[in-house]
Amino acid sequence: MINASGLIKNFGYRRAVDDVSFEAQKGAVVGILGPNGAGKTTTIRMVAGFLVPDAGTVWVKGIDVAADPVAAQKHIGYMPETTPLYEDMTVSGFLRFLAEVRGFSGAERQRRVDEVIERCFLQPVRNQSIDTLSKGYRQRTCFAQTLLHDPDILLLDEPTEGLDPNQKQVVRDMIREMSKEKVIMLSTHVLEEVEAICTRAIIISAGKVVADDQPSVLKTRSTRYNAVTLDVEGEGIPAILETFPNIGKIQTLSTDGNRSRLFLLPKLGKPIAADVLETAREKRWKLFDLKVDEGRLDDVFRRITTTEDIREAE
Ligand SMILES: Nc1ncnc2c1ncn2[C@@H]1O[C@H](COP(=O)(O)OP(=O)(O)OP(=O)(O)O)[C@@H](O)[C@H]1O
Ligand SMILES: [Mg+2]
Repeated sequence: MINASGLIKNFGYRRAVDDVSFEAQKGAVVGILGPNGAGKTTTIRMVAGFLVPDAGTVWVKGIDVAADPVAAQKHIGYMPETTPLYEDMTVSGFLRFLAEVRGFSGAERQRRVDEVIERCFLQPVRNQSIDTLSKGYRQRTCFAQTLLHDPDILLLDEPTEGLDPNQKQVVRDMIREMSKEKVIMLSTHVLEEVEAICTRAIIISAGKVVADDQPSVLKTRSTRYNAVTLDVEGEGIPAILETFPNIGKIQTLSTDGNRSRLFLLPKLGKPIAADVLETAREKRWKLFDLKVDEGRLDDVFRRITTTEDIREAE
């Protein structure tokens, strides 16, 4: 549904997006991550047809977006970082107005407005003036307008930014629900959000794609992947564990006589839990707890994005 190839965008001498390529199919929820200024918004705007790339092409359902943005935008619902809302309109008035702009009229227009109001849980505020809405309802009104023409592709730039945890959850549930029949791309700074709803994460740093994989696979690149936290009682345990070839570092978290809580960091993410268990049984150690780390996305994110955010174009 989306195919982006070799996207480049310069602003003056600054290269904001530097050879970005990706594709996404129906059912995908693609999270775009990256530090401030990495090029997420610029990338999304090029996909949405609001910014023309200096090089490269985006196809949306086979349509070259830069060549025919109007045709492409029929399939796209785009929620910018900050959506201009008409402050003195009511929620339903605003949505009716935008539905009309989209070319709907009469009963069809009303049906679509009612439907997005229901989908975005806006019933309680449908007759409220936009300038009196709380942030959560404003955000959902922005979301609702992207759905009026029932597009196959949703591009959401930080859809949960600034929302309280409950509102975040509401928006995430909406995204998850809608992902079944659409492809959704969203940018976010919230890594737990990526784990919760994204089927794929693209990490952008200084305009370049530095990772593109399922969140669970990305997590295996974490230094903590397969690390073991152990609560165990027995004789000379740390010394024995030090002889294990795949254990890189042993950290004692606490001790109480012969009982200790240990953190074992593997070499190169190698699995170590099975060996530890085996030895515990052989040596008759008393095991109170053993946890295997599945890795952390924030750890991976930090490791691969700690370069400067902006590169100068050659
Ligand atoms: N219209 C513009 N004119 C000049 N520079 C721009 C313009 N839009 C973006 N930039 C620059 O391009 C770079 C990428 O910006 P972009 O907004 O895409 O980053 P982002 O990843 O969305 O960041 P954030 O997480 O802060 O939203 C930044 O250096 C930004 O200052
Ligand atoms: Mg942005």
